[in-house]
Amino acid sequence: MRENSVALFSKNWSIYQKIIAHNYMFHRDLGSITTSVWENNFKNTSVNVLDLGCGDAYQLSTIMDRCQINSYTGIDLSSAVLEYTKLNLAKINIPFSLLAGPMEMEIDKLHNTYNVIYSSYAFHHLQDQEKLELLKKCYAKLDAGGVVILIDHFKQDGQDRDKYIDEYVHDIKTNWLHITLEENELIENHMRGYDFPTTANQINIWGKEIGFSLESLPDINHCHKLFLLKKF
Ligand SMILES: C[S@@+](CC[C@H](N)C(=O)[O-])C[C@H]1O[C@@H](n2cnc3c(N)ncnc32)[C@H](O)[C@@H]1O
Repeated sequence: MRENSVALFSKNWSIYQKIIAHNYMFHRDLGSITTSVWENNFKNTSVNVLDLGCGDAYQLSTIMDRCQINSYTGIDLSSAVLEYTKLNLAKINIPFSLLAGPMEMEIDKLHNTYNVIYSSYAFHHLQDQEKLELLKKCYAKLDAGGVVILIDHFKQDGQDRDKYIDEYVHDIKTNWLHITLEENELIENHMRGYDFPTTANQINIWGKEIGFSLESLPDINHCHKLFLLKKF
């Protein structure tokens, strides 16, 4: 079941690269916000980074290339994808370690603390209780002054999951013009089987409950968002 959940990524990583290249999920915009968050919080600091659901770390490696990095740790369910991650990280010449397995469990094996915990488009694969538990673990693994940068796609308040996915799939068919019918079908099947987005409000509620301070940032649109959760 778990391996199936990442088949879209491990066997068809080129589809995700196409999505990034055409900015269909706003990686470019989210990357600019991430860069300014980094500059505002860690301008002259060498940081320890933990990346949950890192994928090939392509997006983050381009950002880290311009920052001072003491260490990078990436966790991903797909060991196949981590082969691409190694190549992208080798290009930017930083010390890194990679763990293959579920981020919600692998994180327990880490004994260090981090300045930045980054997770992009991976949290929605967890059930809500797992998302909350993982956010609590992130808080525990952050240094004082550290941040969680959480990027994901979100349902509207009160919106039912099937309806949300219907609308997302409709948007893909209408606007993702470089995605073929076959790729469309793969994405749709993946979303219907394995995507469990929560709402933006729920992140605010959980964040405050755990003790994070939440900073408001420019919104990308009604469903693609970046949250900055700080630990003081
Ligand atoms: C949409 S990709 C995002 C990759 C990268 N973070 C980015 O934004 O470009 C989602 C990634 O999350 C991984 N993933 C899904 N569920 C996971 C879990 N429970 N633990 C760790 N990784 C997971 C998948 O293997 C995939 O590489």
